Amino acid sequence: MSKHRIAWLPGDGIGLEVCAAARIVLDAAGFEAEYLHGDIGWEFWKSEGEALPQRTIDLLRTTDCAFFGAITSKPAGEAARELAPELQHRGFSYRSPIVRMRQLLDLYICLRPCKAFAGNPLNYRDSIDLTVFRENTEGMYIGVEFNQTPDSFYCEPAMERIPREAAISVRSITPAGSRRIVRAAFEFAARHGRGKVTAVHKANVLRATCGVFLDAARQVAREYPHIAFDTANVDAMCMWLLKNPENYDVIVTTNLFGDILSDLCAQLVGGMGFGYSGNIGDHYAVFEPTHGSAPKYAGQNKVNPIAAILAAGMMLEWLGEKEKAARIDQAVARVIAEGKVRTYDLGGSDTATAMAEAIAGTLQ
Ligand code: IPM
Ligand code: MG
Repeated sequence: MSKHRIAWLPGDGIGLEVCAAARIVLDAAGFEAEYLHGDIGWEFWKSEGEALPQRTIDLLRTTDCAFFGAITSKPAGEAARELAPELQHRGFSYRSPIVRMRQLLDLYICLRPCKAFAGNPLNYRDSIDLTVFRENTEGMYIGVEFNQTPDSFYCEPAMERIPREAAISVRSITPAGSRRIVRAAFEFAARHGRGKVTAVHKANVLRATCGVFLDAARQVAREYPHIAFDTANVDAMCMWLLKNPENYDVIVTTNLFGDILSDLCAQLVGGMGFGYSGNIGDHYAVFEPTHGSAPKYAGQNKVNPIAAILAAGMMLEWLGEKEKAARIDQAVARVIAEGKVRTYDLGGSDTATAMAEAIAGTLQ
């Protein structure tokens, strides 16, 4: 079998360190791949006006999947000021590379497992085993925003309460987009023997958009009569997740709610050092630790690389390397359970490299 071709996109800050740690484990697992480096991140925004250059998009199109570290992003005003002086006049606007990759490649599933590893001192409760399916291409992330209310938005009676100077962000939810993410959640539940899928919404206020999502969810749920289905408002869901997290199993929701809920769920199992994601479409996927580039820790080799290592395991699973993926998961579980190597978040002072080497050592 020919080697896998992986677009390798470490990005900025601690992205570089956690990607290096993931590579130690991938190599130790005997995973054979050609890693093709892709330019991405703040440096390229400043020098080229694009954090995800076209050459990197071309690279994505010629590889099997991508592994992404993290990137630094800043609010619009600050981003514009940091753009190279010779580019200032061209009016570039900063766009998040990860959001662009999700949309350009139609990676509509954001899969975020949140499982408590036995012996993790940071567990909120040891019994937690949640999987979040976040819709990854539409909702509040479509990028349609206005700094002032445009004429075309005029609609009675709401406009009477919206002054001209109001900024507007548009939320778009389609029946097809909703059905495919809900179906992905049910298929996952069916494949992994999961008992329940919960669709999270705010249909009592966002009647139109969440109404579409909920209708689609109910329709798809009928195709899976052996899997329990329920729904919850997103505000109540945050409360229930803290009160009774063991009552939940697979959670499916729209883009922004999924962004928020998945950070909450990650914290239940140890925080961002344990949060990892697969951005998955029908033909391509980008795997990443969910955390950001953490500039204040960059270059210190101290952050917990487990999220990146678990993302690497998920990548192997998606590529069909199931045995290697399972070995990585087991090695992570053992190193956490033994508790001898601990990064600062776990109360220790071991480096990211030491953690990766401990996991790699346990694999062999
Ligand atoms: C995530 C992140 C991204 C998002 C940011 C970096 C644009 O928070 O993957 O959850 O909002 O989707
Ligand atoms: Mg997020």
